Amino acid sequence: MQTTMKAIIQPSYGGPEVLQLAEVKLPTPGTKDVLIKVIASSVTTADSMMMTGKPYVGRLMIGLTKPKYPTPGTGFAGIVEAIGTEVTAYKVGDEVFGESLKTFGTQAEYLVLAEDDLYMHKPAAISFEEAATVGDGVMTSINFLTMVTKLQPGQHVLINGAAGSLGSAAVQIARNLGARVTAVCSAKNIDFVKKLGAHEVIDYTREDFTLCENTFDIIYDTVGKSSFAAAKRSLTAQGVYASPVLSSKLLKDVIISSLFGSKKAKFSATGALPFKVKQQLQATARELLALGKVKPFISKKFRLEEFQDAHAYIASGHKKGNIVFVNSWQ
Ligand SMILES: NC(=O)c1ccc[n+]([C@@H]2O[C@H](COP(=O)([O-])OP(=O)(O)OC[C@H]3O[C@@H](n4cnc5c(N)ncnc54)[C@H](OP(=O)(O)O)[C@@H]3O)[C@@H](O)[C@H]2O)c1
Repeated sequence: MQTTMKAIIQPSYGGPEVLQLAEVKLPTPGTKDVLIKVIASSVTTADSMMMTGKPYVGRLMIGLTKPKYPTPGTGFAGIVEAIGTEVTAYKVGDEVFGESLKTFGTQAEYLVLAEDDLYMHKPAAISFEEAATVGDGVMTSINFLTMVTKLQPGQHVLINGAAGSLGSAAVQIARNLGARVTAVCSAKNIDFVKKLGAHEVIDYTREDFTLCENTFDIIYDTVGKSSFAAAKRSLTAQGVYASPVLSSKLLKDVIISSLFGSKKAKFSATGALPFKVKQQLQATARELLALGKVKPFISKKFRLEEFQDAHAYIASGHKKGNIVFVNSWQ
């Protein structure tokens, strides 16, 4: 019987050179746990940040001097391999997807999670690779468009960074919410974001959206390349600028605009929302995926041993959609 598995391990903070592919002990499920054979796991911009341990404030949660949990990765999709004696929600062979936000560990061949953690049955309509990425782009953009900015049908939304993980999900979600969508990306991605549903596209290498004449009810800057100050003149009177990329400048804008003025700056850390809220976001995402209304775009697939290439692609700043580690090529 198998007693070990392959997993990426990270003994310290730093660049991709601190990662190793190792043979580690196969985790065993307790009575209320589920052992999942990981088919695919996401590799995200947040994973790259957790690898470097920067910004330093994040270390309060993930480990002060070295990572608290040896194997990185939060998003996964896989098949239930074994269950504890008290588990009732899942059975062996079930296809599941979700997020391991407490102990990470998805960039491995197997994963153990409590039965009541943040995962669900995978809709048949999407692949394991697509499902593994849902916690990043899809859940975050549902949070920003429905809860943070409260996008309404008929409103005009500008999505900056529309070709990335959050952006490519946001274009589809905003269209589903009945919004008019202007996407911002570089020339090579114009056709891509149009196919996702954008009504208009601005090529940021030729035109600065903050200088164009249009105004928007919502500016969702998924990559934090703009700012509230620059975007303000492009907002309607009650307009909202929201970005998932935290900086001291954005934090100051959030506080000041909450007290003064009709235009607002907003931020949210989706992973830090209460568990029940994240569960609701996941259920909404699942429904959209099952109905084929949102489909995560996968631009590259890597094997676990190709972790250097995966992180180099993220570091390029031009990742298209999502990328994944794949254990079982189907
Ligand atoms: N707060 C939260 O809840 C939360 C949750 C998840 C992620 N995040 C954060 O959200 C951010 C976005 O993550 P992501 O994975 O979606 O990013 P990403 O996929 O790495 O974004 C890459 C995209 O950015 C575009 N881009 C690069 N420079 C640009 C510019 N100057 N203007 C407009 N677009 C530009 C690129 O398009 P081109 O190739 O066309 O240039 C590329 O497609 C990250 O900082 C991540 O840490 C926050």
